[in-house]
Amino acid sequence: MDKDVENSCWRCLYLLRRKVMTTNHEVHCCHLHFGIPGCENVFINEKACGNSPYHVSVKLGKTTTNSSCDVVVDNDLNLSWLNDQLPTSLHNYFELYLPYCFAYMYAKQYRKPYTTSHTAQSLDGCTATKSGHSKWIGNQQNLIHAHRMRALCDAVLIGKNTLINDQPKLNVRHVEGSCPKRVIIGGGEELDFSSLVDADPGIIIHATKSPYPHASLNTIKLDNQENENSLENLLCVLCKKFNIYSVYIEGGAKIISSFLQQKLLNVMQMHISPMLIGDGMRICSLPAIEEIKEAQKFIRGKFFPIDDEIMFVGIPQ
Ligand SMILES: NC(=O)c1ccc[n+]([C@@H]2O[C@H](COP(=O)([O-])OP(=O)(O)OC[C@H]3O[C@@H](n4cnc5c(N)ncnc54)[C@H](OP(=O)(O)O)[C@@H]3O)[C@@H](O)[C@H]2O)c1
Repeated sequence: MDKDVENSCWRCLYLLRRKVMTTNHEVHCCHLHFGIPGCENVFINEKACGNSPYHVSVKLGKTTTNSSCDVVVDNDLNLSWLNDQLPTSLHNYFELYLPYCFAYMYAKQYRKPYTTSHTAQSLDGCTATKSGHSKWIGNQQNLIHAHRMRALCDAVLIGKNTLINDQPKLNVRHVEGSCPKRVIIGGGEELDFSSLVDADPGIIIHATKSPYPHASLNTIKLDNQENENSLENLLCVLCKKFNIYSVYIEGGAKIISSFLQQKLLNVMQMHISPMLIGDGMRICSLPAIEEIKEAQKFIRGKFFPIDDEIMFVGIPQ
């Protein structure tokens, strides 16, 4: 995709997300105008005007009309395209990122955030070596994708082992956008939060069974027993107390598997990189099954090209 169009499309989506979150009215339809950097326009619940190379109309709810490049977003943020005349690269761009612009509406309706997990894995299904090294599985475009997701979501969430092994910043550096709230699950006083604190002054939330006072952290006490509702309760607290309407879960495997097992993932994104790691950390730590018919399946699954690699995106069934 032409860089100018890509940047313009990104600004337009970012603007849409902000407008949806700040409008005082229920959103019925939006018109997006973009293509020339700096001339992006988003109209909510009003007739669009002006000339721009690209024009996308978004209808919310079950309405179906027929004009050029209409997309319908349902209550669960699934997209259906009508008369789509966008180039494939732009179509994919909207298909990947448009739902997050409406996560606020999803959260208001269901009283919990819209959740998406992302991992980068090898062809043999590993997300890290046995010693925990994972930098970098996935190409440069995967990194840009991750930063777009961070910018489009209210919070990015990781498990404590990922903090220990990777010392990530979890801010937004590769695209325009602001740093999300950062949520760490598990661990206690032994954790070193300096990579997060040094990267951005924004909110850091530590959800743990054993909270302790720390000047840079907001803490949430988790149940001592990891019961089947523990993560659902956490998501509700994030939504109610911290105004977090969308959560991007960046790993590792244990935390993503917990969300998956508790049926709390709206979307799973799995980037696949052409390498073999061997005896490493697996993408999921799910219980063993006897027969293939018991395997976790997906609906609306699709493989997206990510430069010269691919990413599977699907809704866990
Ligand atoms: N390739 C990739 O995309 C990618 C992405 C991220 C990370 N990684 C790699 O993955 C490795 C870490 O992954 P990991 O699977 O070992 O660990 P992890 O998911 O980062 O963290 C696991 C910890 O999270 C807490 N936790 C998990 N489920 C929980 C639940 N239901 N309730 C409360 N707490 C829960 C537990 O902490 P407590 O035991 O303290 O309760 C658990 O030990 C790192 O080496 C990192 O490099 C790879």
